[in-house]
Amino acid sequence: MRLVLLGPPGAGKGTQAARLATELAVPAISTGDIFRANVSEGTELGREAQAFMDAGEYVPDTVTNAMVRDRLAADDARGGFLLDGYPRTTAQVAELDRMLDADGSSLDAVVELTVDTDEVVKRLAQRATEQHRSDDGEAVQRHRLEVYAAQTAPLVDVYAGRGLLRPVDGLGEVAEVTRRILAALGRG
Ligand code: AP5
Ligand code: MG
Repeated sequence: MRLVLLGPPGAGKGTQAARLATELAVPAISTGDIFRANVSEGTELGREAQAFMDAGEYVPDTVTNAMVRDRLAADDARGGFLLDGYPRTTAQVAELDRMLDADGSSLDAVVELTVDTDEVVKRLAQRATEQHRSDDGEAVQRHRLEVYAAQTAPLVDVYAGRGLLRPVDGLGEVAEVTRRILAALGRG
């Protein structure tokens, strides 16, 4: 199963990705987590990404695409994967298409987690008190939502046009949302 999880900051992509990875036996690949790991290890990639992340901006496509290309080439991703937070721009969509075309594979579905803005603001404020992510300050949170609306929301139509989009209501208990996603994938 080759899946993409789409949705605004705070929609629950990371939360659901971890659960779905177990259910579907595929690796959850979060570009945000990979960037954060590189920042905390002080790698070159981390140094390139940090300023963008802290400002709530997207890391440039060239950097992000190269990182995902490497990750998808790893053995554990050959049989399938779940991408959390990639693609986020139309250029990334085109690049992912090229990566998959090159080995004759394709996406099975794109799950869009829908959650209204009031709820994501509430969730991110709560997470800020627990995890202290450097991009969870109030002003940066607001900007991340704007960047999502401008650069990533258009992907919903792109994947809907391909018949791949599975919108799922992200409100409610975490386990209930997981059940809805699995049902939308025909695995319920
Ligand atoms: P990334 O780490 O991907 O952040 P994001 O998309 O902004 O999403 P979040 O991780 O904030 O939210 P989430 O949807 O995962 O929700 P979560 O499960 O945590 O990206 C960070 C940055 O990295 C970007 O801004 C950019 O700079 C860079 N980056 C990453 N990918 C990139 C790309 N492709 N291109 C360029 N740059 C890129 O849940 C949120 C909170 O809600 C948690 O506290 C959780 O416990 C809670 N929660 C979850 N589900 C529920 C529920 N059902 N009910 C109540 N609470 C819930
Ligand atoms: Mg996340």
